[in-house]
Amino acid sequence: MRRILVIGIGAGNPDYLTIQAIAALNKADVFFIPDKGEEKAALRQLRTDILDRFVENKAYRSVVLKTPKRAEAGSDYRGAVDDWHAKLAEAYGELFTAELGEDQCGALLVWGDPSLYDSTLRIIERIRATGIALDYEVIPGITSIQALAARHRIPLNRIGEPVLITTGRKLPSNPAEDTVVMLDGEQAFTRVTGNYEIFWGAYLGAPEEILVSGKLGEVSEEIERVRREAREAKGWIMDTYLLRKATPDND
Ligand SMILES: C[S@@+](CC[C@H](N)C(=O)[O-])C[C@H]1O[C@@H](n2cnc3c(N)ncnc32)[C@H](O)[C@@H]1O
Repeated sequence: MRRILVIGIGAGNPDYLTIQAIAALNKADVFFIPDKGEEKAALRQLRTDILDRFVENKAYRSVVLKTPKRAEAGSDYRGAVDDWHAKLAEAYGELFTAELGEDQCGALLVWGDPSLYDSTLRIIERIRATGIALDYEVIPGITSIQALAARHRIPLNRIGEPVLITTGRKLPSNPAEDTVVMLDGEQAFTRVTGNYEIFWGAYLGAPEEILVSGKLGEVSEEIERVRREAREAKGWIMDTYLLRKATPDND
């Protein structure tokens, strides 16, 4: 049966690759590399650099997956994502069947870890649901959240307390005591009122990494400015942050 290795490659630094991930890279017959257009060219480059550095058989084969564009979400976000996933599943399914022999093994290199705001596993399940015989294995990677915590030298949770992980779109103006925010194109932290600390990081793990932390009211404008300038200079940005509500204990 055809097999797919879904390999978490860490969020931005080739040194984040685990030994298990390197071993998996060296088992694959074909690498499927998504092409999400110009803006993400730098991310595609990191995948290519990883293959050049860690795959021992330099005659490896890679195939570009042209990613269909997602329609504007409008009011029906879930519907738009569902349609997009259906198109992705069709495109991936066709490519896996065409490019992999019956007993061959393909690899998908997933940014960070596949468990976190990534649909690769959902798409593979959709392909299987169409009747294409496919086995798969998941190799975990270092997420951007772990990179953020490490670079700021902080634990995510306070003793015995929970942590919420959410998106900029879903961030309320009075978030839970410890909230990690991802996929935030709108700087949702500027809507937050109250006494919070923020630990912000962009391009984590990469040479251009930027870190800012402090009381939200004091560093919010600085983060907005730094973020805008970096985005203009590079043409894209990936950032994430932890918001921590000040309590009598940590105030
Ligand atoms: C589609 S999600 C993928 C998350 C990924 N699976 C992970 O494990 O980190 C993309 C979001 O992750 C965050 N992100 C990923 N890599 C990052 C990095 N190197 N620095 C800062 N944020 C990052 C950003 O919030 C970005 O909008």
